[in-house]
Amino acid sequence: MCGIIGYNGKRNVKKILIEGLKALEYRGYDSAGIAISDGKNKEIIKSVGRVKALEDKVNNESKMDGLFGIAHTRWATNGGVTLSNAHPHTNGKVTLVHNGIIENSDSLKENLKKKGVKFYGDTDSEVVAALINYYYKGDALKAICDAVKDLEGSYALVIMFDGDTKLYAIRKDSPLIIGYGDNEFFAASDISALGNKVKSIVYLDTNVVAVLSQKDIKYYKDLKEVKEKIVDIKNYNFDTSKGEYKHYMLKEIMEEAQLVRCFLSKYLYSDFSEFDLTPYKYIDIVACGSAMHAGLAGKYIIEKYASIKVSVNMASEYRYEDKIYLDKEHTLIILISQSGETADTIAALREAKESGIKTLGIVNREGSTIARESDMVIMTDAGIETAVATTKAYIMQVLVLSLMGIKTSIKIGKLEKNVLDEYKKLPSLIENVYSKKEEIKDLANKVYKIDNCFFIGRLIDYAISMEASLKLKEVSYIHSECYASGELKHGTISLIENGTVVFAIITDKNIKDKTLSNLKEVESRGARGILITTDEFDIPYDLKLTLPYAEYFIEPMVVVPALQLLSYYVADLRGCDIDKPKNLAKSVTVE
Ligand code: G6P
Repeated sequence: MCGIIGYNGKRNVKKILIEGLKALEYRGYDSAGIAISDGKNKEIIKSVGRVKALEDKVNNESKMDGLFGIAHTRWATNGGVTLSNAHPHTNGKVTLVHNGIIENSDSLKENLKKKGVKFYGDTDSEVVAALINYYYKGDALKAICDAVKDLEGSYALVIMFDGDTKLYAIRKDSPLIIGYGDNEFFAASDISALGNKVKSIVYLDTNVVAVLSQKDIKYYKDLKEVKEKIVDIKNYNFDTSKGEYKHYMLKEIMEEAQLVRCFLSKYLYSDFSEFDLTPYKYIDIVACGSAMHAGLAGKYIIEKYASIKVSVNMASEYRYEDKIYLDKEHTLIILISQSGETADTIAALREAKESGIKTLGIVNREGSTIARESDMVIMTDAGIETAVATTKAYIMQVLVLSLMGIKTSIKIGKLEKNVLDEYKKLPSLIENVYSKKEEIKDLANKVYKIDNCFFIGRLIDYAISMEASLKLKEVSYIHSECYASGELKHGTISLIENGTVVFAIITDKNIKDKTLSNLKEVESRGARGILITTDEFDIPYDLKLTLPYAEYFIEPMVVVPALQLLSYYVADLRGCDIDKPKNLAKSVTVE
């Protein structure tokens, strides 16, 4: 993970770098640092903690205004959270920031130590600085190219050399873009760091070195100058303000209805071929976290309506499994990812492509690795999601999968075309959920002091429960487990005590009574049940939240916003750092 930014231009370098880091903080936030230079002198300031702590330190301690600089916000992978492990890292004439993991850093470090190189910390990034410095004999470009030949793993690097006024950027398997402003140049992990300062960008190709000077940018591959494709981003929406909301998470939940409305106006009746699953007999969905949970909801919809076998896989497991494809030619691998940069999902994508299987990315970030490398792409159009816990991107992922299932069902003649009209109700159904926020807050008030809880549900209600449980635990730190209702009694029921909260999700009428029986089983062992259901049923129950009924293929997108709100209010009552929960990062670009 980690966020990096570099700047070479005429404006206030420190200000631009700190602003960039604030926008990148979602990528990691345990320590941060900045290095600025005027070509002769250099200043490095680092701090443990959030970017705000760095900003304060820079305001108090900085003694120079540089011409260019680099900055980093860290999510520790290699070496603890300490000042010496914070970036930028320096060795000899080299100072750099790094995102990624160098897998052979231990052996590289040993070799360098034998040659007399000294180290001050525990990170792989410091080893990269030392390695480049080792190769540096006055030609920065050559030193970088020689050093990266020795590296195994992933890297996005922005590098400065003492006595040189240029910045050097290079990447492999970690994202890095180059931004063109008004006579000023940027390198950054992500477009959000550049705000509206740039007009066009380059998605840097693997091992191409970008050399950013005060007047231009040049690109080199194997020491020869090359051209990179410049992409116009005039229409990119950079609005990342919190608006009237206390937290991004709440703002992003409240955007869901409108995002769904816009997406449907574009795709509901269109013949966009990417939604057509008729060429396939088998679908493997591969994703991580909430994106995987969206895939699980999609599985039930696609299997029910399009009659195609779907398996849902955690990318971190899938990439290492022995794959058995029954019919490669008719198999589709769907990679779902908000960021499009999740390392395990990218690895699964590349493996699928190598074995000749068709790939489809469902992605939120344009130009991301998964968007660029998949054979086909559907963009989820959720806009920038800033809160680390995903909300609106999840809803859009489910919407895409749901439309795929239903459009395919129409094509095979299982459903009539007019079933699509049902989707038109979705935005107002979500708005109806928003109107229940006081009721949801009341429920939050009743449960926010608990230490642990369970979510249960069957089939699509299980998929909903998985996401609800993850959302609650990640933002409120309440220990929450999700079980398929029938499975709880095979061991875990031993954890049910007097007062243990069990949320039961019931929206599917075919399995309603089964889950109700499971709820009774835990109640008779002392559990305090909370029923989350729809107004299709009239289930008498003490503690319940009743949400609007919708068709099976729409209901998850109505129920999940309510449960996202519940997690939000519980976390708020517990005083949690909702937008940046501890230990998490939004974009997991390492294994
Ligand atoms: C992290 C985030 C989750 C997200 C998962 C997959 O764990 O905290 O919210 O669901 O990564 O990320 P992706 O960008 O691939 O959807």
